[in-house]
Amino acid sequence: MAESMKGLKRTHRCTEVSNQNTGETITVMGWVQKSRNKGGIIFVDLRDRSGLLQVIFEEEKCGAESFAKAEKLRSEFVVAITGEVALRAGGINKNLATGDIEIIAKDIRILSESETPPFPVEENSKTKEDIRLKYRTLDLRRADLQRNLMLRSKVVSIIRNFLADEGFLEIETPILNKSTPEGARDYLVPSRVHPGSFYALPQSPQIFKQLLMAAGYDRYYQVAKCFRDEDLRADRQPEFTQIDMELSFVDIEDVLDVNERLLARVFKEAIDVKVPLPIPRMTWKEAMERFGSDKPDVRFGMELVNVTDVVKDCEFAVFKGAIENGGSVRAINVKGQGGMPRKKIDALVDFAKGYGAKGLAYIAIQEDGSLKSSFAKFMKEEEINALVEKTEGKSGDLLLFAADRDKIVFSVLGALRCEMAEQLGLVSKDDYRFLWITEFPVFEWSDEEERYQAMHHPFTMPMEEDLEMLDTDMGKARAKAYDIVLNGVELGGGSVRIHQDDIQEKMFELLGISKEDANDRFGFLLTAFKYGVPPHAGIAFGLDRMIMLMTGADSIRDVIAFPKIKDASCLMSNAPDKVDEKQLKELCIEVVNEQ
Ligand code: AMO
Ligand code: AMP
Repeated sequence: MAESMKGLKRTHRCTEVSNQNTGETITVMGWVQKSRNKGGIIFVDLRDRSGLLQVIFEEEKCGAESFAKAEKLRSEFVVAITGEVALRAGGINKNLATGDIEIIAKDIRILSESETPPFPVEENSKTKEDIRLKYRTLDLRRADLQRNLMLRSKVVSIIRNFLADEGFLEIETPILNKSTPEGARDYLVPSRVHPGSFYALPQSPQIFKQLLMAAGYDRYYQVAKCFRDEDLRADRQPEFTQIDMELSFVDIEDVLDVNERLLARVFKEAIDVKVPLPIPRMTWKEAMERFGSDKPDVRFGMELVNVTDVVKDCEFAVFKGAIENGGSVRAINVKGQGGMPRKKIDALVDFAKGYGAKGLAYIAIQEDGSLKSSFAKFMKEEEINALVEKTEGKSGDLLLFAADRDKIVFSVLGALRCEMAEQLGLVSKDDYRFLWITEFPVFEWSDEEERYQAMHHPFTMPMEEDLEMLDTDMGKARAKAYDIVLNGVELGGGSVRIHQDDIQEKMFELLGISKEDANDRFGFLLTAFKYGVPPHAGIAFGLDRMIMLMTGADSIRDVIAFPKIKDASCLMSNAPDKVDEKQLKELCIEVVNEQ
């Protein structure tokens, strides 16, 4: 029978009690982590979000009634215990914040009983994630998840304080919207009042924050929920949180400056990591050439080497064909892995194929200097030697080559580089290497759609010096866009926006968005801009990713209270779910072709 709180008041959280309180009578409340009866003495580990505290029950000290209750205790019972703080009689537990004290119980109330939980509530649980997510409430009681969510709360409050000090206003923007132009698929919400019409949930507050600048709010921020119906990965959720901001009367430098100081403050205050300022910058082009990625992990080297020139006249059909088709041949040198067994190399070839490669050629330099290679037989000896030289191959090195269109070569070697670093343990989670990536292309070619698309979004300002290129060589034009990258993860991104209508019109034209279409989709923004709009720019950080990196979690699911799984469903609530016929009818919706 669950008892009530009547007349009872908690005096401390578990770890707020210390040896300073010895002799005092206190009341603590929480969950039973563990209870063991050692013949006449019952030891209870009590847990709340602050940690653990040991309580002991002896019949002569707590009385027969309380002792009988203590005998019934099992894991996850919720109890209130009043007792006296004493130094531990039975030796100190150095692993526990309260390891030198214990509570000699005088009284106990059982506030709630618990069935046997499906898995033990303990740190670093080995329980399968789908079980943990199904019983998320129990999972969330674990100390590691509690630490993650407490850190998340702390980070948000540091950010709020910082931005308030810098003159930012926190303003909410609507969730029920027209589609925003971030390029992922929208989540739609049917309208009952306007049958056949749909709201789109925001992929970001992009248009609204620009409207707030036009409305004169000067500096805006929001801890904004965003929704994107895209394929999920370890660092992607269908709903996630951005720290979103926009500033008026600024250029790139102003945005980067305030955000560098923000990151330095947050990392110092939240996890005591010093971020050296200024944060280094790298152009998009350099990042692709050197690391094969627009979010390079710069904690280790293994940079890409362009060997196109070295092999341009060779007879190896794979290399020759790639170059003839306008592509390139590039390599990475995996130091000390020349002795890698064939089976493991084959696994790397499969890995590369997963990133679009048709194959992966290699030269494995043995300790005695001899070579094992998948393609040496197609090449002249001096060509192979030149390749080894260009890639600075030494005895014991493994050289991996990809030949294809640049886009594929970069994606393959960029991914392989990170995979090898991971396998070889070259990266430390405690090493925080920030990097700005700048000068992104304005447009990106879409193979699928066979046309150029905006790389960031259609409101991104091209670099002034590249404006003329829009007519002559649009694929090469660079944008005033920037991403902040941390340890190979894109933490945030933003841009200077277009506030001149002639440039905006040009952008729509180049993107194949007709005047009618632009008016239909973003007319309210374009109209607002007709009445005076300041130059403005902004950025958004992925909060979930930031906390993932700060806590060393492997997935953003571990820093979100109630996350979804790969197929975008919630294992706990079973969302999404069917709804009543009546609800559908009200919305004039009929489900056809149900799968
Ligand atoms: P962008 O689309 O680059 O920019 O998003 C900004 C940041 O949000 C995070 N993010 C995600 N996190 C978790 N799950 C996802 N599915 C997901 N998608 C994105 C990333 C990313 O860097 N409106 C612009 C910002 C601007 O221009 O000011 C925008 O949304 O960390
Ligand atoms: P093949 O002549 O197809 O047997 O290929 C010889 C070697 O080249 C094998 O090791 C293949 O994995 C490799 N290879 C094939 N296509 C590519 C490519 N596009 N880039 C790099 N290596 C490749």
